[in-house]
Amino acid sequence: MAEGRETTVGIRVISLEEVDSTNEYARRIASDVPEGTVVLAKRQTAGKGRKGRSWASPEGGIWMSVVLKPSGVDPRLVFVGALAVTDTLSDFGISSGIKWPNDVWAAGKKIAGILTEGKAGEYVVLGIGLNVNNPVPPELRWDAVSMMELTGTSLPLDRVLERLLFHLNGWYRVFRERPELVMAKVRERTFILGRIVKVVEDDNALIGRAVDVLDDGSLLLDVGGQLRRILYGDVSLRIV
Ligand code: ATP
Ligand code: BTN
Repeated sequence: MAEGRETTVGIRVISLEEVDSTNEYARRIASDVPEGTVVLAKRQTAGKGRKGRSWASPEGGIWMSVVLKPSGVDPRLVFVGALAVTDTLSDFGISSGIKWPNDVWAAGKKIAGILTEGKAGEYVVLGIGLNVNNPVPPELRWDAVSMMELTGTSLPLDRVLERLLFHLNGWYRVFRERPELVMAKVRERTFILGRIVKVVEDDNALIGRAVDVLDDGSLLLDVGGQLRRILYGDVSLRIV
């Protein structure tokens, strides 16, 4: 896929021992750093998911955010992260799939989450949390998994990071040139297609069969024979 000729993602890497959240840190410095600057931390004390949910980030995982400066804020940037994570996992022999819109699952459990936050016209922070050698919190044992658990061995974090940055670079370049190719790959790797899912937004819930991921990043749902387009937003999705 990517030949890695031109480096954007990882042009500069800021490595921290501990931080509240790499996304928050990246947002604080976004205006003053070049595109592609990566913020990486060994531990996050206030790692976050969407809607203010917390993201467990003890030492041993990859907790990183990259500052991007695309021409416009595009919600599909989250898929650049998801594709890069699935490619990275595959490099280490782990097969995985995308749970639309922002999770990566392996062996039926969540192994990574992606959180994009942006300021229109200025920057997008693409945050990735990937469980590598870190323990997953006991209360998430049935829902979450790490690379170490799946491979049975502790993995070199620097190698995992190197592969992740490589794939982020490649997919970001494809995204800028041919975003429809990114979406074609997302469609291939979205494992919920054909399955019955429940989509929840605020107080509304819809149950239907996930049919497709459209080029604009939305999910097409068949609800009792009626096709509904679900926009990427603050929706939660559960497999029924
Ligand atoms: P959805 O994405 O469908 O809204 P979600 O449960 O995946 O549902 P997110 O906000 O995307 O919600 O992710 C945050 C959730 O991820 C937390 O509420 C927690 O359940 C789970 N989580 C927190 N830390 C980790 C981790 N290190 N690995 C895997 N899962 C985690
Ligand atoms: C989710 O599944 O809701 C997204 C989780 C995103 C976690 C990563 S870890 C690095 C970056 N910093 C954060 O506080 N969140 C993201």
